[in-house]
Amino acid sequence: MYSTSSLAFLEDKIVLKDYPHYEVMMDWEVNIMSASSALACENGGDILEIGFGMGISANYIQQHDIKTHTIVESHPQILDILHNWAKNKPNVNIIEGDWVKVVDQLSTYDGIFFDTYADENATDFHLILDKIVNKGCNLTFWNGAKNKTNMLGISGVEYIEMSVNPPSNSYFNENTYYLPLKKY
Ligand SMILES: C[S@@+](CC[C@H](N)C(=O)[O-])C[C@H]1O[C@@H](n2cnc3c(N)ncnc32)[C@H](O)[C@@H]1O
Repeated sequence: MYSTSSLAFLEDKIVLKDYPHYEVMMDWEVNIMSASSALACENGGDILEIGFGMGISANYIQQHDIKTHTIVESHPQILDILHNWAKNKPNVNIIEGDWVKVVDQLSTYDGIFFDTYADENATDFHLILDKIVNKGCNLTFWNGAKNKTNMLGISGVEYIEMSVNPPSNSYFNENTYYLPLKKY
């Protein structure tokens, strides 16, 4: 179970402590995180981010002209870092726990970035979307697919091709990333 696994925090990545070849997040994704954050924040307003990780996208989201930034995070070690990060950020609202268990605490949003890890319920995320999107909301998410599809079962998505150059890793070794965008 991921949320009870110990994590190791390296300079350029977070890995599972007992299985260090499994990366939870890596900093080569910086351009993807920047672009994902820009899409999520395009309308300003209330932004929902699910999965804090290294806080790369969270830092980009904070640079946009937004009203609120709600972050859902489930891992206790990352929550400690997140609470510290959020200390001087009055527009940040932290919701602790697996997103699937905190759906009742969610509001409605103008932009959403979904980026979890080892999430057995990710393919159910689309089921809650109608309840949490405002009209015009931009939804984007981490897309591990190697083409213009996605593994979350979200329909009506357009894809923006990005060139990327990842170092060898356990989850994405392509040179094109298909950045997803669904406009509601
Ligand atoms: C790939 S990282 C997110 C990377 C982040 N976008 C960044 O820029 O660093 C995935 C994050 O999702 C969290 N996570 C995994 N499963 C989750 C779940 N079911 N609910 C909430 N957070 C989850 C992990 O603990 C981790 O912090």
